[in-house]
Amino acid sequence: MAAWVEGGPVAVVTGAGTGIGQATARMLHSRGHAVVAVDIAPQALAWAEGIPGFACVFGDVSQEAVNIAMVESAVTTFGRLDAVVLNAGIASRSDWEADDALEVFDRIMAVNVRGVVQGIRATAPTMAAGGGGSIVVIGSTSGIRADPNRWAYDASKAAAINLARAAALDWASRGVRVNVAAPGPTMTPILQGGRITPEHLAELTRPIPLQRMAEPDEQAEVICFLVSPAASFVTGAVYMCDGGITANVGIFPPRAKD
Ligand SMILES: NC(=O)c1ccc[n+]([C@@H]2O[C@H](COP(=O)([O-])OP(=O)(O)OC[C@H]3O[C@@H](n4cnc5c(N)ncnc54)[C@H](O)[C@@H]3O)[C@@H](O)[C@H]2O)c1
Repeated sequence: MAAWVEGGPVAVVTGAGTGIGQATARMLHSRGHAVVAVDIAPQALAWAEGIPGFACVFGDVSQEAVNIAMVESAVTTFGRLDAVVLNAGIASRSDWEADDALEVFDRIMAVNVRGVVQGIRATAPTMAAGGGGSIVVIGSTSGIRADPNRWAYDASKAAAINLARAAALDWASRGVRVNVAAPGPTMTPILQGGRITPEHLAELTRPIPLQRMAEPDEQAEVICFLVSPAASFVTGAVYMCDGGITANVGIFPPRAKD
């Protein structure tokens, strides 16, 4: 696998500090891309600092200035922009009757939906002017089906998915492909940080036909495919990487391991 080479394609990955974003940034870099890594938590990007072929931008993707800064970083540091992975996202439970329900909803929508709008607005014109490119929006099984007590997150991911479809239509003639990679439950630091018990893990994996969680690299592989020239005729698509969850109507549990 080729590592980053000067003059190769240039990608922006938001939420690159941990989890799926970090795995994607590392994989793109290992396959020849220069990568602008973006995260709200500066310490989260320590892994990328000082490695040739990486540049770091700190800030909140719901803010227009951060989206402009990440494009400027790509162009000034590496000379162009070819691919964008809009991965930064937040999740939390939502209680319909909680006093702060609307604050929680507004924050989730700001990051997961407004952040995607800002990301597309900031990056698509630059890629179109440079001859084209690829945007991958990170959706979720929660944007296809719904979860109990997570209505704000579910609404945000459904919105992000249809935003990507609409953007695909609007940018196709200008050479910019827009697709969704939609993960199912994935072992990111949220789950590996000791806050998950073996019983909870068993409960989470029971509805997954493949009977396990995904690793971040399994999500990164799908994202890298959508970025790559191998997906040159793919736009407006939603690629599930969910171990089969959304294939199930949900009335009957999937077959357990023998
Ligand atoms: N892990 C899963 O099971 C799973 C399942 C479906 C979808 N997803 C989606 O995949 C994406 C990545 O998830 P993950 O599990 O790797 O998450 P994570 O929490 O491990 O990593 C998210 C990263 O985004 C950064 N971030 C958060 N808010 C930000 C903001 N406003 N601006 C910039 N950076 C910000 C965080 O600091 C963190 O480094 C998210 O969009 C999430 O909704 C994850």
